[in-house]
Amino acid sequence: MDKIIFATSNQGKMDEIKMIMEGFPCEIVSMKEAGIYAVIEETGTTFEENAIIKAKEVMKLSGCITLADDSGLEIDYINKEPGVYSARYLGEDTPYSVKNKTLIDRLNGVEGEDRSARFVCVIAAAFPDGEIITARGTIEGVIGYEEKGTHGFGYDPILYVPEYGMTTGEMLPEEKNKISHRGIALQLMREKLMEKLNII
Ligand code: IMP
Repeated sequence: MDKIIFATSNQGKMDEIKMIMEGFPCEIVSMKEAGIYAVIEETGTTFEENAIIKAKEVMKLSGCITLADDSGLEIDYINKEPGVYSARYLGEDTPYSVKNKTLIDRLNGVEGEDRSARFVCVIAAAFPDGEIITARGTIEGVIGYEEKGTHGFGYDPILYVPEYGMTTGEMLPEEKNKISHRGIALQLMREKLMEKLNII
């Protein structure tokens, strides 16, 4: 096996993936590096479904083992919204300042642990033999009462992580990377891949 493809066009994600997969005995390449150009619709209703749709589609095009991820913010009080629609919530082009304020307003009057929420990341691996494996990582927290922090992106300013006493938007990138939903899912996927491919 010469390479594994990660179905993303996001360079930031690729850098993180390559860092976590360092030392893995085969190369992890992006779709672009593999010469594959595809726009895949995320038609699933769960993170698992969307990650599997993307991984399978690119595996079929490339014939290689393919990894893909899907992530988002789940807020328990509002039935795990925005969930798989995190990027599309209130429209793709709506600024996150508006999305974040709307979510805070929707939790008006909700206190303490009832504000529980998490970032979720699911990574799926599709193998040419038809097997699919998935790995899930989360960062648990509560929705803050106001936006805090200027690091990160998206919903980072509103996910307050009690264990660290700050939002993920207040964490330095290297701090967040150590505990990130994507990092945890990737680490787990690395272990599952080693097992499946009999790598010691
Ligand atoms: P995707 O999996 O890259 O499509 O990300 C889905 C969406 O979830 C992003 O566009 C953000 O809205 C949200 N999201 C996922 N991970 C994070 C994070 O670490 N911080 C803030 N928002 C996130």
